[in-house]
Amino acid sequence: MSARKIIIDTDPGQDDAVAILLALASPDEIELLGITAVAGNVPLALTARNARIVCELAGRPDIPVYAGCERPLGRPLVTAEHVHGETGLNGPMLPDPTMPLQQEHAVDFIIRTLREQEAGSVTLCPLGPLTNIAMAFAKAPDIVDRVARIVLMGGAYFEVGNITPSAEFNIYVDPQAADIVFKSGSDITVMPLDVTHKALVTKARNDAFRALGTPVGRAVAEMTDFFERFDREKYHSDGAPLHDPCVTAWLIRPDLFHGRRVNVEIETVSELTMGMTVADWWGVTDRPANALFIGDVDADGFFNLLTERLGRL
Ligand code: RIB
Ligand code: CA
Repeated sequence: MSARKIIIDTDPGQDDAVAILLALASPDEIELLGITAVAGNVPLALTARNARIVCELAGRPDIPVYAGCERPLGRPLVTAEHVHGETGLNGPMLPDPTMPLQQEHAVDFIIRTLREQEAGSVTLCPLGPLTNIAMAFAKAPDIVDRVARIVLMGGAYFEVGNITPSAEFNIYVDPQAADIVFKSGSDITVMPLDVTHKALVTKARNDAFRALGTPVGRAVAEMTDFFERFDREKYHSDGAPLHDPCVTAWLIRPDLFHGRRVNVEIETVSELTMGMTVADWWGVTDRPANALFIGDVDADGFFNLLTERLGRL
């Protein structure tokens, strides 16, 4: 089976970094056409910088990186330095990028790529707020039907929110963009906190990253050492939840994950529940199922895959 062509839209972020590394370590399954940076965990200048740092860490300065939207569609930008550190990639000491940022705007790259590539051949993998994706759909509605699938990290239902009592960060930052994407008609696989909070980097799992004895293994271990503080303190969990790598892992081994096709709609009116992903888990409405909402993962299988693939870089 030929490799799946994807675009990663991202706000690195230590977990975004691991998702990108897993994609780059899996060329038989994934052909990464480009990375589009969006404002989220940290401002756009830093997410565009961090994406290039990660590509060079993987020895892939050939991957084109594009800068996208620097603020949400209709709300002030909310960032998460309290989780990711002031650079967004705190933890390892990594060199400044030398590879250039592409001149083309990320939204134009997404539109151009979807028009140039065979219809139904490109999967969009958003790992941050959905601003770039929504802007591309609004600017060029013709591309929506050309998207093979959207596999995104975002939302929460039974796990409730991580940035407010009811909303997960990626959706909360740009709920209007999320509403556009979830109503677009695209086939969506959602990796919510319900599943990513089951993908915890325990000490043993982080030791396995470090034991790879490679620059990538060490950098990932140092990223999660830093990144886990927030979740250990808030949730008293056994380690950092690797949110975004669940997206890449699903592309490689969907059998490791389990979910349900349900209707998901986004709260965009009430400030109390702004950005909530309202999943009709029990089918109590007649709203059509628009998403595969993932609720469970074989965590050991996930980390075995991740560690083995990182060892290839
Ligand atoms: O809520 C977790 C999500 O928000 C992850 O994608 C993390 O990188 C941040 O963007
Ligand atoms: Ca992210």
